[in-house]
Amino acid sequence: MIQSILLIGGSGFIGSHLARRLAARGLRVTVATRRRERAKHLILLPTVEVVEADVGDDAALARLCAGQDALVNLVGVLKGGNGDPYGAGFARAHVELPARLGRAAWAAGIPALAHVSALKAAADAPSGYLRSKAAGENAVRKAFPNTTIFRPSVVFGDGDSFLTMFARLLKYAPVLPLASPDARFQPVWVGNVADAIVEALLRPEAEGKTFELCGPRQYSLRELVEITSLVTGRRCAVVGLSPLLSWLQAFALEVAGGPMTRDNLRSMSVPNVCEAGNTLPFNLAAAALEDVAPRYLGRPSR
Ligand SMILES: NC(=O)c1ccc[n+]([C@@H]2O[C@H](COP(=O)([O-])OP(=O)(O)OC[C@H]3O[C@@H](n4cnc5c(N)ncnc54)[C@H](OP(=O)(O)O)[C@@H]3O)[C@@H](O)[C@H]2O)c1
Repeated sequence: MIQSILLIGGSGFIGSHLARRLAARGLRVTVATRRRERAKHLILLPTVEVVEADVGDDAALARLCAGQDALVNLVGVLKGGNGDPYGAGFARAHVELPARLGRAAWAAGIPALAHVSALKAAADAPSGYLRSKAAGENAVRKAFPNTTIFRPSVVFGDGDSFLTMFARLLKYAPVLPLASPDARFQPVWVGNVADAIVEALLRPEAEGKTFELCGPRQYSLRELVEITSLVTGRRCAVVGLSPLLSWLQAFALEVAGGPMTRDNLRSMSVPNVCEAGNTLPFNLAAAALEDVAPRYLGRPSR
């Protein structure tokens, strides 16, 4: 019976929703963060403890793991540098850390480990992000064979950085030059992702399995921006860029430290959609983006 759960990367978007759901069930949650400030929105939850810790330090990790019934790894980065097979930032966050978490959990005798990877992670994927996510899955399973792995498509919901970023851009740009407008996604609601993790932690039969997580519908990137425009009431002309212009835009934003890199663009060349009929486990009902987005994107103030 699981009673105490350690979240690594729990201060982030998915982790915060997960912490709230676990706390709502009365489970004890420890959120480890590199900066307590980042997790201050969780401090007041009744059964949640926020602990500032350096998860790069094995002794600190061992202290965090002691007495826990489950560990969930939610650490991820979208910018990890360039390199073959992946940049150093991806290696650290997506491969080396999961391996160390797996070893620490195993050494501490933690019964369950859940690891959040990404849909279409593969050793031969076109981006360092996806290749490092695949290597991370192997690394964590090597250290902790019964790791349960989740592979979400892009995740939407209150606090996301995907639709919210487009909503912000639409506020200022009457014309939006959009890279990879035909890229395919099957966005999944963050509440569904959190519920899937909670269910898996509570069901021994989920141990060692890999779950893809997708929403009910597939969209092109252009459609997602258009839905954001409709929901927010921010009218905007979306101009789809050619592959060359998409690359140039990604390169310019990468150099300027903007919201996109060439590696992100390479990730988008793979349709980020689930295999047919494979959307959510445990009979969870997939929430529709059209129903949820208006609740948090809202309408602009005039
Ligand atoms: N959001 C999506 O659409 C999406 C889609 C597919 C897969 N995923 C995966 O789902 C997981 C959670 O995503 P998210 O959107 O919740 O991410 P997020 O909001 O960026 O949160 C990730 C957390 O990881 C921690 N972190 C980042 N780099 C770290 C490092 N080098 N060492 C230690 N901790 C580090 C940060 O915690 P502190 O700063 O507090 O330490 C941060 O709060 C990630 O693995 C991500 O790749 C997300």
